[in-house]
Amino acid sequence: MNTQELIDTAKKMVAGGKGLLAMDESNPTCNKRFAKLGIPQTEEARRAYRELIVTTPGLGDSISGAILYDETIRQRKKDGTPFINVIADAGIIPGIKVDTGAKDLAGHPGEKITEGLDGLRERLSEYFQMGARFAKWRAVIALGEGNPSRGCIEANAQALARYAALCQEAGLVPVVEPEVLMEGQHTLERCCQVTEEALRTVFSQLHGQGVMLEGMILKPNIALPGLTCPQQESADAVVDATVHCLLRSVPAAVPGIAFLSGGQPAELASERLNAMNVRFKSRMPWELAFSSARAIQQPALEIWRGKDSNVVAAQQALNHRARCSRAARRGEYDAAMERTPATIAQVAKPAA
Ligand code: G3H
Repeated sequence: MNTQELIDTAKKMVAGGKGLLAMDESNPTCNKRFAKLGIPQTEEARRAYRELIVTTPGLGDSISGAILYDETIRQRKKDGTPFINVIADAGIIPGIKVDTGAKDLAGHPGEKITEGLDGLRERLSEYFQMGARFAKWRAVIALGEGNPSRGCIEANAQALARYAALCQEAGLVPVVEPEVLMEGQHTLERCCQVTEEALRTVFSQLHGQGVMLEGMILKPNIALPGLTCPQQESADAVVDATVHCLLRSVPAAVPGIAFLSGGQPAELASERLNAMNVRFKSRMPWELAFSSARAIQQPALEIWRGKDSNVVAAQQALNHRARCSRAARRGEYDAAMERTPATIAQVAKPAA
């Protein structure tokens, strides 16, 4: 393990007011999103969509690192250039999702355990050779009647810690993602309790596995009331709760916290991240960044719809959301940004 390189990479991932773009949807997830928009669920359609993303002009101004999927890291532009070279040439650090998905946790109805540890050392070594410099592993924690169980939180935290240790051994910065899901009726307070417990357990396991905190990034959820909770909360209340929870559970040695968007509407995700940075940026020990998939990609995907004639408009929409995320991360986002000429593409009607 080259300690200094890991520390430098982790710092770069959250430097310059930028954040991470997650474009690592597994084939089934990507196909599901394509199906909703009538896009063919083929390898070529996934390749064309990822080419649209990585060739978006100016993406590197807002995005420090891009998380790829195993299929994507091996793909090329139509002209034969490997995606990984296109990304690196744009000044973006290539990363890779290495978990193999969340499966039912035996003995725990309604709960999941993320798999992918078998053969991970060999896969990480291959990804490093290919040029990846960081990795991602997502654990999911669902709230419900009597859930999450202690068994689910512990099993996922241990898997995250073993993955993180293997990453650092291979020279890759681990992005550690324990996601408390938004689905459910739970209150903001309940989400905070569970998020705090999950994070405390994750950091205890990371310590147990000897993970160097300066060479990792945490990718948590923002603390939110459940989607069907009757009492929704203001951006300020959400931000207060999130910061409170993080301060109690995340060591100051971690260089950055990059929030997932978790299906929040894109503009709301920007508003909340902005409120967090406006109010707390100068007082937090970590950078408060983003690592989003849907909050950056969704408007672009809806414009593209698998048509070459929509590529430019889709790229403008993607770049716009990346710029809004960057502004939010700097505490400079304003709803007026959504009405500037740069957003024209977002409201443009896609070709039928
Ligand atoms: O693992 C989850 C993704 O990397 C983030 O996706 O921003 O749509 O929640 P999301």
